[in-house]
Amino acid sequence: MSWLDILWHPVWAVSTALLAVVVRLQRRGHWDPRACETQLRGKTAIVTGANTGIGKFIALDFARRGARVILACRSEARGTAALKEIREKTGNSDVHLHLVDLSSLKSVREFAKRILEEEKALHILVNNAGVSGLPRKITNDGFEISFATNHLGPFHLTNLLLDLMKSSAPARIVTLSSVNHKKGQVDFSHFKGENLTYFMDTVYNHTKLHNIICTNELACRLNGTGVTANSVHPGIVVTEVLRHYPFSMRCLFNLIGFFFFKSPEEGAVSSIYCAVAEETEGITGKYFDSDCSLVLPAPLARDAALAVKDFEICERLTSKL
Ligand SMILES: *[C@@H]1O[C@H](CO)[C@@H](O)[C@H](O)[C@H]1NC(C)=O
Ligand SMILES: *[C@@H]1O[C@H](CO)[C@@H](O)[C@H](O)[C@H]1NC(C)=O
Ligand SMILES: *[C@@H]1O[C@H](CO)[C@@H](O)[C@H](O)[C@H]1NC(C)=O
Repeated sequence: MSWLDILWHPVWAVSTALLAVVVRLQRRGHWDPRACETQLRGKTAIVTGANTGIGKFIALDFARRGARVILACRSEARGTAALKEIREKTGNSDVHLHLVDLSSLKSVREFAKRILEEEKALHILVNNAGVSGLPRKITNDGFEISFATNHLGPFHLTNLLLDLMKSSAPARIVTLSSVNHKKGQVDFSHFKGENLTYFMDTVYNHTKLHNIICTNELACRLNGTGVTANSVHPGIVVTEVLRHYPFSMRCLFNLIGFFFFKSPEEGAVSSIYCAVAEETEGITGKYFDSDCSLVLPAPLARDAALAVKDFEICERLTSKL
């Protein structure tokens, strides 16, 4: 037997396949949404970026539980397709599509205005939508586009819907951050697109840090209102977030992802856990890992003084225009 024969021996093939399966299974969370019996009949939920990936699976889960679900999407075509799919799969016709472009404060305000006019209550808000790998661009509001979309837009939206949520309490706000926040930095000039390096996920990492910081401050401000606010890490998921990366990079990520990343459905689990599980009732100002365990975020994300400052700056930036 030559060394090549040994290398190609079926034992290797079988053990590699087994290893891959074990690694894949390990990526699954410990909490199973299908085993959770929470019903959401009579409850209203908003999921941003619900037309694809994780957001679509979160919306699908809420619709299965009987909630009135509003899909907040940017693209009408893709949103309509998701709406049709979710209605068909769940038999829940109380699912609706409202368009919103989170990178535009004007669009966020119009969306929020419509919600406040049309909805009597709001029990769940999932800030899922996010972008990664966008090239540098300044929005009409004067903000860097990834910051506008991933942080300032959802921040503003949440604040505009707070009174409705308080009057609907108990209510839950879930914001999708990422383990990437650990590599993020806080530099307030970033909001305006200054001092930023555009290398792969650098900007994304910063925005995900701001997500946790402001969610924690929001939780403090909401103390005693019955509205909770938490951040989650969905896991490393190959989703549409990658759509702005070069084709070669997407292929590579997809290949690696097949074995080592979560599927969008698995990526939705920690958010669903945070939004509907009995176990998370009343928990606020916390950060959940992708396996649904409570973990500590990076030190910067736990700095209370920084959080007060960040929240105030974001309030000022979003209130002006
Ligand atoms: C962003 O965060 C991820 C995950 O922590 C890390 O692997 C990556 O290197 C970070 N990117 C930059 C440019 O810091
Ligand atoms: C960019 O970062 C440097 C170093 O942190 C800081 O001194 C400078 O003021 C920043 N630029 C702007 C425009 O804020
Ligand atoms: C909420 O208020 C209670 C009592 O005033 C306090 O013990 C608790 O730490 C507060 N929680 C947060 C998240 O601020």
